[in-house]
Amino acid sequence: MDTKDLVAEQIRKAVPDLEAAAVTDLLEIPKNSDMGDWAFPAFSLAKTWRKAPQLIAEEIIQKIDSSQFEKVQAVGPYVNFFLDKSQISAALIGQVLAEGADYGQEKIGAGRNVTIDMSSPNIAKPFSIGHLRSTVIGDSLAQIFQKLGYKTVKINHLGDWGKQFGLLILAYKKWGQEEAVKEHPIEELLQLYVRINEEVQKNPELDEEAREWFRKLEEGDEEAQNLWQWFRKESLLEFSQLYDELGVTFDSYNGEAFYNDKMAEIVDLLSAKGLLKESQGAQVVDLEKYGFEHPALIKKSDGATLYITRDLATALYRKRQYDFAKSIYVVGSEQAGHFKQLKAILKEMGYDWTDDIHYVPFGLVTKGGKKLSTRKGNIILLEPTLAEAVNRAAQQINAKNPDLADKEAVAHAVGVGAIKFYDLKTDRMNGYDFDLEAMVSFEGETGPYVQYAHARIQSILRKAAFSPDTGASYSLNDKESWEIVKLIQNFPDTVKRAADRFEPALIAKHAIHLAQSFNKYYAHTRIIAADPERDSRLALCYATATVLKEDLRLLGLEAPNEM
Ligand code: ARG
Repeated sequence: MDTKDLVAEQIRKAVPDLEAAAVTDLLEIPKNSDMGDWAFPAFSLAKTWRKAPQLIAEEIIQKIDSSQFEKVQAVGPYVNFFLDKSQISAALIGQVLAEGADYGQEKIGAGRNVTIDMSSPNIAKPFSIGHLRSTVIGDSLAQIFQKLGYKTVKINHLGDWGKQFGLLILAYKKWGQEEAVKEHPIEELLQLYVRINEEVQKNPELDEEAREWFRKLEEGDEEAQNLWQWFRKESLLEFSQLYDELGVTFDSYNGEAFYNDKMAEIVDLLSAKGLLKESQGAQVVDLEKYGFEHPALIKKSDGATLYITRDLATALYRKRQYDFAKSIYVVGSEQAGHFKQLKAILKEMGYDWTDDIHYVPFGLVTKGGKKLSTRKGNIILLEPTLAEAVNRAAQQINAKNPDLADKEAVAHAVGVGAIKFYDLKTDRMNGYDFDLEAMVSFEGETGPYVQYAHARIQSILRKAAFSPDTGASYSLNDKESWEIVKLIQNFPDTVKRAADRFEPALIAKHAIHLAQSFNKYYAHTRIIAADPERDSRLALCYATATVLKEDLRLLGLEAPNEM
């Protein structure tokens, strides 16, 4: 039920010469809700009607059927519509109670696939805060697209191939210790990698040895392959601990290496389409007409292929394998040039699905206002940070609710959720400063604040021993509950907009507003007072909790019933 349509219908009756689309465009939501829920600006007609806007407003009022509304008023040059709160709240609460978690579920995406390239860390390298953002944003987008009925495929496009593995194998052969790698894979492999790079500076012959190892790896040499497989496995084990902590899963771990045998086809295709040019022994694609200064390098003179070649093979493979309706890449904004190039080449190749590829970038995270830098020691180590977040959540829960059963699980849901929520509430193109204290706070626009509102409602419902009756009609008409009703009503549209813009922040903001409106209601109203509206108030609480929990789920957060 769209209340805007309800109002537009009346305006069209009164002003037949205005087109439907024009009416919808003109209708606005008054800044102050004392001026109604929708307003039509009569001055938009002043020119054609050659009348004062005030008179036009009066005239419109005479022509419309106001029985469906609480009231309709001409105030100056506006026609203000006050929706029938009792009727609308009853219909909406009834709908949410009946549909439960399915409220807002759409079928728009039924039978269509969305692939999401997300997380995608590099083997033997630390998992960065950028990878965390990609993981959390990608996971939320998957939830959002599923809510619209799409099937999602979450792909962890691991950085598991490249010359660096020649160096790493060489380093391991020289100094590596199996036990140490097993214990702390990333830390140990990174140290080996740093050490071999330093050594190569002093002794350039080593570079030739490393190249030889990479050549062996590419040719399938058993020792090289086994070591690479093992580095990959151990790194993945370590990444998996983090994914378990975050509660994120993947449908595919096909990374860069998976495309080793799929790049020759790309080079052939480009060549057959007449797009490849030779430039100093290398193969390139000219992209001048797309505004690129330099051509895209596809194959080097030594035969090596590049990141872009791999991503071309990846795009084609995903189209064939999943026949995606949308193919999303959640990758930091520093790779914008790469993805622009990728799309330009696919377009040149004549693929009409190029426009279904959506690069979804995000901004940088800083700490203490400064850029993160391993060299300058300004780093965020993810595992200890998550542990610290859980710890802080536990402290606050202990202070608020020392007898809580299941304290550890709740602290985990709150602590880890806090980090996710803080990331997602920021418009993704904006970066943010990593401030653990602000993230885990129960006050302000935080995950714990929203989770706490949900838990508070559950506690009210328990205390009142309320369970909804699907046959009953629950209606309310006070101002505070009306704010909640409007937000609940906006939920399905918010999900659609979040998907359209690839922007989970819209869901996070919806959650914050809903929690805030509920807390105002709670402060203002004696919810369980024994009077005829008691059940309606409790039903509104129930519907609010249902939608808050859905908001949180779409963001990848749990909603504990008690905290
Ligand atoms: N491994 C890359 C990195 O850490 C991200 C890969 C993104 N996905 C892709 N298909 N290029 O920067």
